[in-house]
Amino acid sequence: MTALLEVRSVAVRFGGVMALSGVNLDVQEGTITGLIGPNGAGKTTLFNVICGIRQPTSGVILFDDKEINRIPTQKRSSLGIGRTFQRLELFTTLSVFDNVLVAAELAGVDNPHEVAKEQLLLLGLSNLASTIAGELPTGSARLLEVARALAGHPRLLLLDEPASGLDDAETQQLAQLLRRLKSLSITVLLVEHDMSLIMSVCDQIHVLNLGSVIASGTTDQIQHNPDVIDAYLGAAR
Ligand SMILES: Nc1ncnc2c1ncn2[C@@H]1O[C@H](COP(=O)(O)OP(=O)(O)OP(=O)(O)O)[C@@H](O)[C@H]1O
Ligand SMILES: [Mg+2]
Repeated sequence: MTALLEVRSVAVRFGGVMALSGVNLDVQEGTITGLIGPNGAGKTTLFNVICGIRQPTSGVILFDDKEINRIPTQKRSSLGIGRTFQRLELFTTLSVFDNVLVAAELAGVDNPHEVAKEQLLLLGLSNLASTIAGELPTGSARLLEVARALAGHPRLLLLDEPASGLDDAETQQLAQLLRRLKSLSITVLLVEHDMSLIMSVCDQIHVLNLGSVIASGTTDQIQHNPDVIDAYLGAAR
């Protein structure tokens, strides 16, 4: 296996707070990799560094073996890095279709109309194409956020708490979607607090606590790691 994403010694300081310090982790191509840890551990901050919204105080991000630190966010999405946001970033006054269309156009794909249609079909949202995004229930809105991220045809998809606010049936549907994305060779880095989802779909997991990686391993290794149980899983169970 080869690493599609490599995070090397990344630190982010907000004033007196070290949101990330000395973070090293790899995301292997073709996997679903979990990124878990308690609130405030630095998960969203790491996503922001990977997609270029925030510059690290120090450290390097490599995507497909190339350093991308100086590449602006927009360019990173055309390189193949897509993401969703923990707080949804939909255009609430536009239709579901137009939300995906705008994302496809911004990503500069060929045939944005076709791409938007394809993504709605993949996410099971075609029947809601003309619904105004602001009127969607949470489950469909979360899926729409994923459709928008997929519209740029990412090789690496960063998902920040996609199951937040979903009911059990919707979470099952999301798990199936994640497996489908894997079968389409899309590499996924998944931030989630829903441990049953994480443990059912992930090939590999990294655990962040207070800005540092405290463990990396398979679902089995992580579930039995005493440091992870102390810092997070004990409370999350
Ligand atoms: N823009 C900011 N300015 C100052 N501090 C910030 C900023 N963004 C995040 N932080 C701090 O950085 C740390 C990491 O926050 P981050 O949002 O990355 O955590 P998280 O792991 O995503 O948490 P959650 O599970 O609650 O989403 C926290 O201490 C947070 O308060
Ligand atoms: Mg977060």
